Amino acid sequence: MVLSAHCSELFQEAARFIHSCYEELKLSQEEQMTRLEEIQEEINQSGTYTHKGFEVKHGAKMAWRNSNRCIGRLLWETLEVFDERHVQTADEAFDKLTHHIQFATNNGDIRSTITVFAPRKNGVDPLRIWNHQLIRYAGYKEETTVVGDSASLELTKMCEGLGWQGEKTAFDILPLVIQEHGFPPKLFTIPKEIVKEVPIIHPELRGIAELEMKWYAVPIISNMCLTIGGIEYPMAPFNGWYMGTEIGARNLADSDRYNLLPSVAKLMGLNTKSNRSLWIDKALVELNIAVLHSYKEAKVTLVDHHTAAKQFKAFEKKERDCGRPVTGNWTWLIPPLSPAATHIYHKPYKNDIVTPNFFYQNDPE
Ligand code: ARG
Repeated sequence: MVLSAHCSELFQEAARFIHSCYEELKLSQEEQMTRLEEIQEEINQSGTYTHKGFEVKHGAKMAWRNSNRCIGRLLWETLEVFDERHVQTADEAFDKLTHHIQFATNNGDIRSTITVFAPRKNGVDPLRIWNHQLIRYAGYKEETTVVGDSASLELTKMCEGLGWQGEKTAFDILPLVIQEHGFPPKLFTIPKEIVKEVPIIHPELRGIAELEMKWYAVPIISNMCLTIGGIEYPMAPFNGWYMGTEIGARNLADSDRYNLLPSVAKLMGLNTKSNRSLWIDKALVELNIAVLHSYKEAKVTLVDHHTAAKQFKAFEKKERDCGRPVTGNWTWLIPPLSPAATHIYHKPYKNDIVTPNFFYQNDPE
């Protein structure tokens, strides 16, 4: 049979996952053996196998724990998992996604959440989302500048091609683009009421509010593929909460994103003619203070980078105590502001890829 190489590889992946999952959940050897026989049988019959609900739940948590770029992994066990593998249509999926947004937002008291949709089967993705995050701002190319988020230029174009029209503000929420296998992608507008946003203000600098910056509450990555025991879930949007620097030192600051440091420096009266005035650094610090202050005032969960690094240190200890080696991607783990002020900067991490995990994947066909 042509299937056999694929099948034995899949079974090996399954066996590795079932072993660690069942050990961690303190299930018996016997339960492991029975389950593996069952999986072998199903793979022989159908070329694939179906996870039990608790396997998806724990597998998703393990995937977070193994995410080398994530500084927030201490909380991996708190992940809320919605098992929506039975969902078949784009409309029904949209319903589940709006539920995810509301549940995760929780009026600002953010809950780490993942919603798992149907797995890839014989190379076919039953459902896919085109969006990079469920909530993100559109970006429009004007003659000399970009209005909005330049990270969204391509998707914005695609949405327009599908008949969507944004208001062309710097902060238009993109619609969801959901694709059901065998159908063209379909647009869905996220109801405004369920998208929590935070206006950016500063505890002392009044001018910051006048820049009329804002950001959304919950980052929900929606284009990565969750892989558990050889099974791929190409639609499994997940969220934690923001670390302040993601917004204050990258999204609003990067010159190829919102590029707001010159405006911040100007309202601070800094000398932007000289690099040696460190106007960039001063503006960065005040913008990040503004982000931390704004999310606090708005009562939306967000962590500062010093606290996050401390939590990551606790994660490293906890993993060591459990006998699991900690893998990490140093270039992503160090915060973009004052990196050397965290312990992470001063030690090496092995960037080995352990599964379950989240992987980049190609856009849908
Ligand atoms: N860096 C991305 C953004 O700024 C979000 C990535 C996920 N972040 C997180 N805290 N879970 O939108």
